[in-house]
Amino acid sequence: MKKLIVAFFLATLPLLGLAAGGGVHLDDADIDLSDQASLQRGAKYFVNYCLSCHSAKYQRYNRMAKDLGLTEDEVKDNLMFTTDKIGETMEIAMGEQDANAWFGTAPPDLSVIARARGVNWLYTYLRSFYIDEKRPFGVNNLVFPDVGMPHVLWKLQGMQRARYEEVDGHEVFKGFEQVTPGSMSPEEFDVAMRDLTAFLSYVGEPIQMERKRIGVYVLLFIAVFFVLAFLLKKEYWKDVH
Ligand code: HEC
Repeated sequence: MKKLIVAFFLATLPLLGLAAGGGVHLDDADIDLSDQASLQRGAKYFVNYCLSCHSAKYQRYNRMAKDLGLTEDEVKDNLMFTTDKIGETMEIAMGEQDANAWFGTAPPDLSVIARARGVNWLYTYLRSFYIDEKRPFGVNNLVFPDVGMPHVLWKLQGMQRARYEEVDGHEVFKGFEQVTPGSMSPEEFDVAMRDLTAFLSYVGEPIQMERKRIGVYVLLFIAVFFVLAFLLKKEYWKDVH
């Protein structure tokens, strides 16, 4: 038994490393999937700032309308730029070859990114672009070193520098310093990125909201069934005792 427990921990160690994002502290995304307004704002950020490069090819517009409490016309008018068919998935127009030429690597599809990386990683990633003159786009990212993605949200967030201090011969990250302001305050930007992360978490598993709702009914059913089963058992055993 002991061996089994040790084997289990050894087997899960790499997973822990992955979740920690390479030793960088990840901020808590603290998303709320029951908050439809937050998901709607997240969808807006996604189609305006991400969908030019990244697809979400497993997400259909009409399914999103239903899940986010929007009418199909609202989605058509405000959230659909790359197609006019509500039953389509969220594709992009950019070809893979162009993408490789422009960014050195094709922007990956983001359908399941929240599940692959975790919501805390995503939330931290989106807020961790900083000025680095050595990089082609002039920015680097704290949780994704030498990332090929430009800081597409710089107008909202402004630009920041990473501050490092030397501790015992190592450079240790000590936080960001705002260099130029964005149109949002840091608090507003955090909320916006929480909304976007929530939206991507929803896209990663659209059924999850429904699953939680159904789960409540399942538990209620089990509770009621337990009472019935208990009464039945009492009835059966009455004559034996
Ligand atoms: C101008 C094109 C462009 C836009 C717009 C863009 N990205 Fe990216 N993104 C990229 C590229 C290119 C990469 C690949 C980076 C690499 O592998 O070095 C990338 C990588 C990523 C990754 C990391 C994927 C991984 O491999 O784990 C995430 C997450 C991501 N983008 C999210 C977003 C979000 C969210 C938005 C909208 C706010 C966005 N991106 C907008 C080009 C873009």
